[in-house]
Amino acid sequence: MISDKMNKAINDQINRELYSAYLYLSMAAHAANINLKGFENWLKVQAMEEMTHANRFYEYVNDQNGKVTLAAIDAPPANFSSPADIMKKTLDHEKFVTKNIHNLVTLAKKENDYATDTHLQWFVTEQIEEEKTASEILQMVEMAGKSGGALLMLDHQLAKRKFGGEAKN
Ligand code: FEO
Repeated sequence: MISDKMNKAINDQINRELYSAYLYLSMAAHAANINLKGFENWLKVQAMEEMTHANRFYEYVNDQNGKVTLAAIDAPPANFSSPADIMKKTLDHEKFVTKNIHNLVTLAKKENDYATDTHLQWFVTEQIEEEKTASEILQMVEMAGKSGGALLMLDHQLAKRKFGGEAKN
């Protein structure tokens, strides 16, 4: 069992994970529109991963005999000024998600809710990877600067990312 307060806090996090998917899909659509197909691919995989994150919380609430209640998802921004803007916003968003995961851990510890605390450890580790990857790509985009050739090489690299599914995420 989880407390009503924890149930509500996890439902809020499900909303944030779904918003994350929405945000990255919107970024992917923008990348497609400016013919950066590699960026589009990377962002679409990112969006699919966010769906698996939402699903992990969904399953957990059900396993704990709680109730998943879905709320409206905010509209994401539709336009971005540059590939660097996309990656900067990706990194900022992941930092925001990390903060919220940590807040959930704080609540679990306060409630002596060891099960939720354990469940959240996967997300704590995942967020390290999420921030690291976004930060690395941002650095590469910034290094590419105004060089179209360097940006296209990076785009080619990002085209290789594949969706690993639930098990590897
Ligand atoms: Fe679900 Fe990108 O964190």
